[in-house]
Amino acid sequence: MEPVEIERIEVNLLLEAIFQRYGYDFRDYARASIERRLSQFLKDSGIADLSTVTSQLLRDPAFFHRLVPYFSVSVTSLFRDPPFYKALREKVVPMLRTWPRFKVWHAGCATGEEVYSVAIVLREAGLLDRAMLYGTDISQPALDTAKAGIYPLEILKQGSANYQKSGGTGSLSDHYHAKYDVAVMNAALVKQITIARHNLAMDKSFGEVQMVVCRNVLIYFNQDLQNLVLKLFLDSLDHGGFLCLGDKESLSFSAVEHAFVAVDEKARIYKKRVM
Ligand SMILES: C[S@@+](CC[C@H](N)C(=O)[O-])C[C@H]1O[C@@H](n2cnc3c(N)ncnc32)[C@H](O)[C@@H]1O
Repeated sequence: MEPVEIERIEVNLLLEAIFQRYGYDFRDYARASIERRLSQFLKDSGIADLSTVTSQLLRDPAFFHRLVPYFSVSVTSLFRDPPFYKALREKVVPMLRTWPRFKVWHAGCATGEEVYSVAIVLREAGLLDRAMLYGTDISQPALDTAKAGIYPLEILKQGSANYQKSGGTGSLSDHYHAKYDVAVMNAALVKQITIARHNLAMDKSFGEVQMVVCRNVLIYFNQDLQNLVLKLFLDSLDHGGFLCLGDKESLSFSAVEHAFVAVDEKARIYKKRVM
């Protein structure tokens, strides 16, 4: 048997062990990126092979929790991809205005910058008090940061240029106050945001929402898991509700393509058809 074939079996056994022992399902994550992350873990921890990792993680939860962050890439930023936020302001906000109240679900929100960015867009449109924003992720440390709403001041300074490019009508500093070297997000934003743990690969629908924002998460999943998650979003969305994906993600060729129309294909914003 070829060594690559043996390695493939070792990866399968490791992912199966994680699922059976801890209930985290990484079995349908995109294989190439899982393999890259596992190699990095082997290198960082000085372990020679995956079989050793598998047997150790079965017996040692602390060891498993050291491995989990390798599966969860939490890279994010405020107003990431300004054209997306510009399209949101111009094409989605006017339609959100027609709902007396609405809910926005940020699935895979990492440390929360995306949730605060959308909350800021809604605040500037005078819609924040009609909105409830939910940020979910599998990574508890990331969620703890999102919940606190406190970031290094540097992050806000970097976000400022993107905020302007996104069509911001004021200054990003209107939405936080600086305290020494950290920025504390405005209480009006924090009040409308709920942060919770949710695993897209395993958990059920989040209840009915009017907008799902799931950006730069599906790229880590294989086609089957992408379709499962997209179906979950379809079932969670109100008729006429919006789905926002990352710029390398699309509904084209997905199992739910027929159920949506593009509001802005370039910005990856879709609207659930009213059946
Ligand atoms: C690259 S970040 C994207 C953050 C943000 N949406 C953005 O675009 O800037 C991907 C996030 O997806 C989360 N994630 C990965 N698998 C997940 C799953 N099964 N359920 C929920 N979140 C998941 C990771 O923990 C990580 O925080």
